[in-house]
Amino acid sequence: MAPSIRRLGILTGGGDCPGLNAVIRAVAKTAILQYGIEVVGIEDGFQGLIEHRVRPLGIKDVSGILTRGGTILGSNNKCNPARYCTGRKPNGELIWEDVTEKCLTTLARERLESIIVIGGDGTMACAAPIAAAGINVIGVPKTIDNDLVGTEITFGFLTAVATATEALDRLHSTADSHHRVMVCEVMGRNAGWIALTAGVASGSDVILLPEIPFDLRRIADDIDRRMRDTGFAIVVVAEGARPQSGKQVVSRYDPTSHDPIRLGGIGNLVANEIADLTGVETRTTVLGHIQRGGAPIASDRILATNFGFHAMAVLASGKRNRMVVRENNLFSDIDLFETVGKQRLVPIDHPLIAAARAIGTSFGDGAGSITPKPIPSALV
Ligand code: F6P
Repeated sequence: MAPSIRRLGILTGGGDCPGLNAVIRAVAKTAILQYGIEVVGIEDGFQGLIEHRVRPLGIKDVSGILTRGGTILGSNNKCNPARYCTGRKPNGELIWEDVTEKCLTTLARERLESIIVIGGDGTMACAAPIAAAGINVIGVPKTIDNDLVGTEITFGFLTAVATATEALDRLHSTADSHHRVMVCEVMGRNAGWIALTAGVASGSDVILLPEIPFDLRRIADDIDRRMRDTGFAIVVVAEGARPQSGKQVVSRYDPTSHDPIRLGGIGNLVANEIADLTGVETRTTVLGHIQRGGAPIASDRILATNFGFHAMAVLASGKRNRMVVRENNLFSDIDLFETVGKQRLVPIDHPLIAAARAIGTSFGDGAGSITPKPIPSALV
């Protein structure tokens, strides 16, 4: 055990995700029971660090939270201390400041030299200046999008896939009854892991990913074929998917946010085009934050508990500024700074795409079967 650790902070950053509470519980219980470390929860991500909002976390505080969705600490995906919006000038221009020093003051007042930061790529990027200033930051990879580099899986992803798969299964029966096309928009900004995995798990006919720009005429041809064969069709589209000749669909832009772009709307666009091109009645469902809410499934509770325990083991070993990862089913850790500004996209020759193409699934690009490359797959 690194001798100096007496107190430890925990922070959850970015969009929430099933399994956050399971990580908080595992970190806090391991810290208290195995190492006798006092644990402090930082509220609402980096916002709580800037505003000095923290609270003690004892065994009682983290008991009974394993199965709960969300995060008992609160989270925030708008705030980056290194580029923080503090208001507007009289001419309306936004004022940006680096408030990292405020975070360091909170940490010093709380006598916290180490923090566990649970988040995605944005959260790790926000934590990097704090780590560079001398605080030991141990990251735990969270996101339903499953797009963090260095780890084959993030917790929360498999719960989101289970939720999306159940929704797609339900859409199947109503599509069948009405002989309709059902389009379901799922999350996945630049990486289509949820669309791909839930699409295959539900037997969807068309899967549209950000990594494979699509051609609407080819999708219409594939739908026509499917309507002739079975009389209905299911399309799953990632929110970040785009036509070959177009851009991602942005639903809102918030200039004051560290993460200003909200995607959304591609489902409706695809559905309207399919209806116009095929003449088949088409409906859209947008799953949205239903994929992020609610209890984690069993495998995510286990993954989150393992990540929390490993984060404490890494901290106790004296290592600095690491992110815990799972690779080939084994837990290890990588340099936290390695993850900043990178995303793990779906390789277009991923074995699951090859398997889906082989059974006739369309990716909207007109390509037929391909030979898969032997890429290790972490989807199950
Ligand atoms: O990053 C995870 C994610 O679920 C994305 O897929 C989605 O674009 C985003 O969060 C939505 O975030 P917000 O909470 O700001 O709506």
